[in-house]
Amino acid sequence: MAPNRTNFSNFTDELRARLSIVDVVGKRVPLTKKGDRYWGCCPFHNEKTPSFTVVEDKGFYKCFGCGEGGDIISFTMKLNNMDFRAAIEELANMAGMKLPDYKPRDPNVVKREEELFNICDAAAQTFQEKLFTPDGAAALEYVRRRGFTDDMIKKYRIGYAPKNNIIANKFAGSKYLVDAGLCRRGDFGLYDFFRDRLMFPLFNANGKIVAFSGRSLDGSEPKYKNTTDTDVFHKRRTVFGLNFARDAIHRANRSIVVEGQIDAIKMQTNGFGETVAPLGTALTDEHIATLCKLNRNITFCFDGDGAGQKAAARACGIMMPFLRDTSDVKFAFVSGGKDPDEILEKNGADAMKKIIDDAVPLVDFLWELANKNFVVATPGGKLQAEKFLDAELDKIADPELKKFYKQEYDKRKFQSWQSWKKTKEVVKIDLPDIDAITKNTLIYIVNNFPELAEKYLDFLGTLGIDFDGTAAELNMDLAAAEKFIVSLKLHRYLDKLNLQKRELTNRWLETGDATISDEINAINTEIEKYTEKLEVLLSI
Ligand code: UTP
Ligand code: MN
Repeated sequence: MAPNRTNFSNFTDELRARLSIVDVVGKRVPLTKKGDRYWGCCPFHNEKTPSFTVVEDKGFYKCFGCGEGGDIISFTMKLNNMDFRAAIEELANMAGMKLPDYKPRDPNVVKREEELFNICDAAAQTFQEKLFTPDGAAALEYVRRRGFTDDMIKKYRIGYAPKNNIIANKFAGSKYLVDAGLCRRGDFGLYDFFRDRLMFPLFNANGKIVAFSGRSLDGSEPKYKNTTDTDVFHKRRTVFGLNFARDAIHRANRSIVVEGQIDAIKMQTNGFGETVAPLGTALTDEHIATLCKLNRNITFCFDGDGAGQKAAARACGIMMPFLRDTSDVKFAFVSGGKDPDEILEKNGADAMKKIIDDAVPLVDFLWELANKNFVVATPGGKLQAEKFLDAELDKIADPELKKFYKQEYDKRKFQSWQSWKKTKEVVKIDLPDIDAITKNTLIYIVNNFPELAEKYLDFLGTLGIDFDGTAAELNMDLAAAEKFIVSLKLHRYLDKLNLQKRELTNRWLETGDATISDEINAINTEIEKYTEKLEVLLSI
């Protein structure tokens, strides 16, 4: 079945996803929160003490006085005496959505989908029961050791698929086992796709189970085995945990995306109800599209390893076309542990909160990527980094927003890249002090050949010697004295050039800046020239 994105059923799912029942009902009925429920006086019958309750994460209301109950749509219909279409219109207004053209769905398709939901639900039920039988003892022990309480096991409907073909046997009459991805057809009939695995069901937006992810318990590969795509499950756009996270995303006004499904569950149960994860595949643009329909503020939280860094760069690229001026997109990296699950178990929710709070805004993350991935100290690297940034910004749909991003990066390029270009490398070199014998010779020369002292005054002044002292007597004529001074001058100059060259070579190795290697070449020429001079002088 080709997915029909503009039918009414998807649209009402979407409405339920976007609107919190507490907001819809709360507009008409004053509600107060007690525990995880909201209470108010029933608008459908006369009462003075509240017996009307609203359960936000289930999306329903119920009156214990008159028995009325339902979801946002039935509430809007009943309270305003509206028909279905009018109620949808009113709610669409509230959610800021446009009503699609109504296309009735093929009843055969609807029927088939129901059958797939039903068999998946029955399978989940079976797995859940198995977890608490002797067959499931090891799985139960494992999941408890990983920090799952019985409440969590119940809420996420975690179960155990035993080693034998329990589904193929128990539901032998069903025509939908293969189509639902629960069984495969082999030479001897159907066999179960999931065997000896800890089972995590996957829920669609309506809370219907559409697929499973089964974790191996004995270290066998693959670690996670997921249902392959079916008519009701499309891995590329299924976001794990979204059915539980929807209201929290509204309340927190953002979603958090983590890498693994256990991470998502642990986050949700540790105060980050707005957390979801892609499932069994890297993040796709369809995952992002699904999330952005709910809320455009996304904090990605990646594992602190190299793979996490790569995944973050990828996510950033996928995110660009979805950016709006109101988007708040950030990147957090787990440190001090391998993934959010480990942080939560080891260091607790506060440590995790710090990681999320420290997330880097997209504008900075993209800039960091450009600076890390290219050698921006060289002209070629700058060009590559610039091309990379331009290509990413070109994905931004809104031309105004693109303009402001460009301006921001132009400013940063000027500030941190131009300065590299402009400042010439100034290398300060400290030559070693003059040794005692040389010092004595120089003092002797200055005292005995004042004309040389005069002629080489500038050079002698740089040596930092006190010429007032007396020197030991030497056997030296004027020519020899001058040769001594000139050769010392050449030696010192060559020493300086060599030190400069060493310094620049180190910098060049660090930065790869091509302008530095030009300077090194210039110094080499100078060294050759003065070495030759020195040789000529010494050969006289
Ligand atoms: P990880 O290897 O990071 O595992 O895969 P994890 O989530 O920490 O799992 P635990 O804590 O060891 O149980 C991240 C996600 O990639 C998908 C799963 O969705 C997993 O949650 N995955 C991983 C697979 O689909 N198949 C695999 O074989 C491995
Ligand atoms: Mn993990």
